[in-house]
Formats: sequence, structure tokens, C-alpha cells
Amino acid sequence: MDTDSNTPGWFIAGDGAIGMALGCLLQQQGASVRLISRVAKPTPAMMSCRFTGGETVEWTCPVMSEPDGTSIDRLIVATKAYAVSDVMDRWGSSLAPGARVFFLQNGLNLDSDRQPPPSTQPLIVVNSGFAAFRDEPNHVVQTAGEAVWVGDGSARSEASDPNVRNDIACLDAAGFHVRWTPDIIARRWLKIAVNSVINPLTVIHDCVNGMLLEQPEAVRMIRDLCDESGRILAAMEVSFSAEEIHSETLRVIEATAPNRSSMLQDHRRGDGRHELDYINLPLIRMGTAHGIEVEEHQLVYDRARRMLATCEPAGGQSPA
Ligand code: PAF
Repeated sequence: MDTDSNTPGWFIAGDGAIGMALGCLLQQQGASVRLISRVAKPTPAMMSCRFTGGETVEWTCPVMSEPDGTSIDRLIVATKAYAVSDVMDRWGSSLAPGARVFFLQNGLNLDSDRQPPPSTQPLIVVNSGFAAFRDEPNHVVQTAGEAVWVGDGSARSEASDPNVRNDIACLDAAGFHVRWTPDIIARRWLKIAVNSVINPLTVIHDCVNGMLLEQPEAVRMIRDLCDESGRILAAMEVSFSAEEIHSETLRVIEATAPNRSSMLQDHRRGDGRHELDYINLPLIRMGTAHGIEVEEHQLVYDRARRMLATCEPAGGQSPA
């Protein structure tokens, strides 16, 4: 495993909470890290992270907003789903042949034709256990550090490329506990099913995740949405049952009880960008395509859409 700062470094697109926490963890392991920001920022940036153990680390890191000719071997895309196409448009041509590109988004864009260049290796990360929030512009607090899943969509029991295995070992040693799985596509659908309940319901009820369990209407909707998701996933031959989706949803709500979901944060930020069409819409589309009734999901989608529309620019947003 390389932790040597002389080896090709890590580029992290997205200087939000997860991007900053990951950058700090990797740099502490001796890796060279550069943050990629959408907008130009003073560089190097001075930041701090408080980790679950209670330790606070001050760190500095170069920040780039435009490619400078450096060839990228390892890129972590830690942006919201709606920003991925911008990252690919701007940085795709800087990716070296064979570059590993780790995608950490909630949800999925069924319409996207923007992929990393074919010579690179896209890796899907399903984050079911690492959480952080930003309480000040350059200060991040990590709130959970459990295992997360990574895979390339193949049924292989481990990554075939030793570079990918090395990357996974580096991330794990740094404290981002990635585990390879041949079931990454199914795990992504499970996470979509869970997020498609928690995220819009926290917008509709304007509450932190844990409060959902204190509202009878939300408790009923959680059950009905999970049952419907179970039918959709069964039609897609994805192996998680309605019961498993329901118990995973309750587990995540309890584990993240004080969190404001990312969609509620999008709603409160009010800049017109949110992930409803990347989380809820794919399930609705899959259900419809397989002839499954999606009444509950459609109702929740429509209610949340109306509420999120109050923060959208005229004309709405489309999955980019
Ligand atoms: O999107 C989010 O906020 C998170 O994925 C989750 C798990 C719902 C916790 O808030």
C-alpha cells in the first residue's frame, strides 16, 4: 500500500463536508491531496476536521478550480449528483489512461450520457456509513465512520486491478473503510430505496431524520414506500426485500437521528439545486418500466417536488 507523498496523489472533486473529511484523512496518512472546487478559492486552503474519536486536525491543502495540465490518476468525485456532469466536462480530459474515478453520489442519473473517458476505471461507492457535516465554512465534523461499499459493477469478488486494490487499502487505512463488493449495483438500489424515503419525507415534514419516527403520518408513509420499493426491486431482480428495505431505513434513521438530510439542506439552502430527480425519479421510472404500481412514490415525489420548487430557479432543473 502506498502512503508515500511522492506517489501520484489523490484529487478530490467537491470541497464539501465529505470531500474535506476524506482529504484530511488521506493527508494524515502521508498521501498528497488536492481539492477541486467549482469556484476559484484562495490556495492553499486552511481547514480543520473533528473526527469521531474527538481529535481535531488542522490541515492545509492546494485547491484547484481549473485543470493545470496535471495528469490525474485517482479522482474521488464527492460532489452532489447534479454536479457530476460539470466535473466530468471540466476534468475528464485530465484523467490519465487507467485512472481510477470513485463516484460517491447519492442516487443515479438514468439520463446521463456523460461518463468518464472509456480508458478510465469508474468505481461506484455506496456510502452507507461515513457521515460528516460542515459547521463553519472550513470546519468539518465527522459523525460516523462505518464501512462503505465499493465495486465496479462486475461480479468479481475482488478488484482485478492492483492499483484499485491499493487505492482501497489506502482509503481503508486512512479511516474511510471501503469494502469491495460484487453486489454494488444492488447495494446502490438499496441505498436509493432508503434515501427515497428519508430525504423527501424530511423535506415534507421539515424535520431532522429521527423526528420522522415520531410522526404517525411519516411512519405510515415509510412502511408504504418500503413495500412499494420492495415490489419494484423484486421486478428488477434486485435481491433486497421490502422487509430488508424497511429495516435498513429504520436503522439509518436511528443512526442518523440528529442529521438534517441532504435534501432538507438543499431545500433550506434554496439555490435551486436538489437530488430528488436522482433519488426518487429512478425508482419511479424503474417501477413504471416494469409495470409496477408506483402510487406512493409518485405522491411523495409530487409533494416534495412542489416544496423544492419554491427554491428552484424559473424553469426548474433537469438532471444534468
Ligand atoms: O442524504 C442523506 O442525508 C444521507 O444519505 C442520509 C443517510 C439520509 C442521512 O441523512
